[in-house]
Amino acid sequence: MLKVIIPGKDERYLAEAVSSFRAARLPVALTGAGISVESGIPDFRSPGGLWTRFSPDEYATLNVFLSNPEKAWQLYRALGKILEGKKPNTGHAVLAELEKRQQLYGIVTQNVDRLHQQAGSSGVLEVHGDHHHLECLRCGELEEVVPEHYSSTEIPACRECGMLLKPNVVLFGESVRRLNEIHALLAHCDLLLVIGTSAQVYPAAGLPMIVKQNNGLVYEFNVEETELSRVRPHAFLQSDFLFKGHASRNLQLFGENVLGEKGFFDTLPL
Ligand code: APR
Repeated sequence: MLKVIIPGKDERYLAEAVSSFRAARLPVALTGAGISVESGIPDFRSPGGLWTRFSPDEYATLNVFLSNPEKAWQLYRALGKILEGKKPNTGHAVLAELEKRQQLYGIVTQNVDRLHQQAGSSGVLEVHGDHHHLECLRCGELEEVVPEHYSSTEIPACRECGMLLKPNVVLFGESVRRLNEIHALLAHCDLLLVIGTSAQVYPAAGLPMIVKQNNGLVYEFNVEETELSRVRPHAFLQSDFLFKGHASRNLQLFGENVLGEKGFFDTLPL
């Protein structure tokens, strides 16, 4: 049965969720675009999301970059401008604090915004790369991004071999990153916090199932039910708890109860 927690409205299962979390041996977090929405970065598939402005088939595949880099760079520039100057929110801060207190043993993120690292998290595995570097597909050169890269109309070229560069992110049609380390981390994970992802894109969407196969627990933080928590015939319900609502607020409630320090995150500089 899915236990839904709506802060301020229905907190019947909060104490149970907190005590099971405290009892967990190796909790890990899996995050998606929803955790960064309150930092001013739209997600991909919600109304107004990035894929409603740029169809992924038309802009976000490896083939488009190789056959029509001009078009591909329209998306990269738009995302580059969206990410510029964004700051982590309380949701990122809660995960960083739980890690600091050895109550969280890693973050697998689908995000390319590096806000987890900015919030102070160290054990971050970026399965889709990052938007803060450009990469050369020919010689493997990596270059730190400067604002001009995303404001200029020129497509930057590799300083080593001259090949046109792309952001160091995983495009559709490319292989994901750090999968061996992610599987090694989840092999012993008995509790997964799944935050702000629609759980539609694999292999990331398949990670909660690994934890369920470990007889572990899955806690979701989302404004709505997802593939993991939507009750459907013949579908295996993966989430045990759903903290329904905005991630930063719900993670603050959860984090402060786990730490037993009410208001802890109110004063935390972000
Ligand atoms: N708080 C909590 N959840 C939120 C919030 C919020 N403030 N805002 C949106 N969400 C939820 C949405 O309901 C949705 O379930 O976050 C999820 C975002 O889903 P997507 O837009 O599909 O993003 P994500 O799951 O991260 O996408 C996975 O797909 O397009 C590729 O490479 C891209 O990494 C991305 C991957």
